[in-house]
Amino acid sequence: LQSELLSEIAAAKDLGALEQVRVSALGKSGRVSAVMKRLGSLPAEERKTFGAAVNAVKTRVSEALDSHKTILESAALEARLASERADITLPVRPGPVSEGRIHPVSHVMDELAEIFADMGFAIAEGPDIESDDYNFTKLNIPQEHPARQEHDTFYFHPDSNGERLVLRTHTSPVQIRTMLSQKPPIRIIAPGRVYRCDSDQTHTPMFHQIEALVIDESTHMGHLKWVLEEMCKAFFEVDEVKMRLRASHFPFTEPSAEIDIGAEAIGKPGQWLEIGGCGMVHPNVLVNCGLDPQRYQGFAFGMGIDRMAMLKYGIPDLRAFFSADLRWLRHYGFSM
Ligand code: PHE
Repeated sequence: LQSELLSEIAAAKDLGALEQVRVSALGKSGRVSAVMKRLGSLPAEERKTFGAAVNAVKTRVSEALDSHKTILESAALEARLASERADITLPVRPGPVSEGRIHPVSHVMDELAEIFADMGFAIAEGPDIESDDYNFTKLNIPQEHPARQEHDTFYFHPDSNGERLVLRTHTSPVQIRTMLSQKPPIRIIAPGRVYRCDSDQTHTPMFHQIEALVIDESTHMGHLKWVLEEMCKAFFEVDEVKMRLRASHFPFTEPSAEIDIGAEAIGKPGQWLEIGGCGMVHPNVLVNCGLDPQRYQGFAFGMGIDRMAMLKYGIPDLRAFFSADLRWLRHYGFSM
């Protein structure tokens, strides 16, 4: 039986055939098991030698199975390696090489950064995860202020000191960080991501703003208006821009205004489009940052970058900006 099984094993050409041999030899109703079953009918003195002999066959057969299995497996691996080898001598396939594209938001951020750099603004940054204090309190939005509700804030759990972090709801906390860390005169812009718990055709839970802050000793609304006009002319690439400041309210500016631009700039005459908010920095905010409001004043504004991109490049749906759809990016993206 042993030599019969060993030659069957040696003859097995692949792993499937080998497995069949294993089952027919060592399986529950296999040939070795059948021999083993005869043990019971033997006289007691013969059982011991017979049992030992059958076990020896069993061991020998399973060793042969194992070693043949290893041989077949490495042969299978060799065959696969040979058949899947890449032929690096083949010539490159003809056709267009696919090239990355710059996302419209990144492109507009770069455009705006360049425009403001020409006007002498430096770039400042702050973290997306912000303290409640910088996002609200120091901006003159105290604990129970209704503006907190309007912001649809994503809150983190408070820590053991009861302090609460938030995903910043606007880029205005960068105003605070800047005033706390540098002395006037200050001229910065701060582009970045902001978050509000809100989603429909024109709102996404994450979007982009660009903040501007100017602090000096004789700054007034006229400077604010001039900077906004120059920015719009350069950004929309027009000689004249129709712009209006519509009275509004923000806790951190006084007076405050909404910035509207005439939609002529984008080929929609007769309409106004809101692009952001602005105003003169509120004296309380200056005091909160250790600046003397008798000596210093300044202005700030915040605009939606995504909104600016939609306007300039005629992109209809805001949600598509963040859909990771490559066809969309190929269409609206910019070449490197
Ligand atoms: N932070 C305001 C907003 O997100 C915009 C703003 C910035 C208004 C600076 C005034 C001054 O709506």
